[in-house]
Amino acid sequence: MNNAVTARAHTNIALIKYWGKADPKLIIPQNSSLSLTLDPFYTDTTVQFDAALTQDQIKIDGQVLNQTAGQRVRDFLDLVRQRAGITAFAQVNSYNHVPTAAGLASSASGFAALAAAASKAAGLTLDQPALSRLARRGSGSATRSIYGGFVEWQKGHNDLDSQAVPFQETIDFDIQMIAILLDPRPKKVASRAGMAQVVATSPYYTAWPPSAEKDLIAMKAAILKKDLNLIGQLAEANAMKMHATTLSATPPFTYFEPETLAAIEIVQSLRNNGVSCYYTMDAGPNVKVICSAKETPAILTRLRQHFPADHLLVAKPGPGIAYL
Ligand code: ADP
Ligand code: DP6
Ligand code: CO
Repeated sequence: MNNAVTARAHTNIALIKYWGKADPKLIIPQNSSLSLTLDPFYTDTTVQFDAALTQDQIKIDGQVLNQTAGQRVRDFLDLVRQRAGITAFAQVNSYNHVPTAAGLASSASGFAALAAAASKAAGLTLDQPALSRLARRGSGSATRSIYGGFVEWQKGHNDLDSQAVPFQETIDFDIQMIAILLDPRPKKVASRAGMAQVVATSPYYTAWPPSAEKDLIAMKAAILKKDLNLIGQLAEANAMKMHATTLSATPPFTYFEPETLAAIEIVQSLRNNGVSCYYTMDAGPNVKVICSAKETPAILTRLRQHFPADHLLVAKPGPGIAYL
């Protein structure tokens, strides 16, 4: 039980977004969602339970976490301890190979890696569905980061059936994303707070869950047809419907920054010139361009006229959870 265990989980970006909780404690979502796991962005987390410790020691990128972020990890460790029937505190060392809290899903790779490392270090043997449900208790998007490729999070009804299911783990057509890092700073409104404010106050929110469920059905059909244009159109429209709920919240807020609009305009102008590319955005200002590897050189050439080359990160589909 005292063994240190290290796990690696990749982030994922949703093509059909999870936005709003039906049960905030268990993190049961209001709608099912579908994502693409990405190769270059991941978290490595090492966990060791140690009876000699007097409290949990948690570091991300070598830094001790602030109170809120630390509490979230401690609550998660409590859940693992309770399941494993142990009381020892843990040493957690995590490295994000992704900007933290910038809308590039550090909470997804972070809690998926923590779920895998902590459960194994505590002596539990969990299969992938059980790991997915455990990761969900840390962060909703982490539910999907257990698997590679296209992953569906089926919302379910309770702790035992709200879990991810691989939709297409090995992708046999040309699709990737370009993340435009236009602002790497932590976002002003965390995903958790943003969606809670929207569910509680936006009169438009009731339209979101049924609309997202419809989009999900269409997205699955588009993936099976390997229709990149349809995938892009659906993802773009779904993301903008999600962002419309923030403007209609009380108080209103937005994840858009001026440079977000500049990125969107470039994508639209490329498209008007016959280059097939689409955008999506999460709870943060950074834009992800959905495209094929074939068109990526042309897209990068255009984006580099506006954004520094090292802020443009090409992301191919990535794998599921692994122990190192
Ligand atoms: P993001 O867009 O990066 O997912 P969120 O607001 O959803 O932003 O989540 C950011 C929070 O996720 C951080 O404040 C922290 O609490 C948690 N987090 C990020 N990385 C890790 C990690 N490696 N291990 C544990 N928790 C993490
Ligand atoms: C817009 O999973 O970060 O990225 O469950 O509160 O931890 P918590 O939120 P989080 O929300 C992600 C929201 C999103 C859409 C998505 O990833 O599906
Ligand atoms: Co997140």
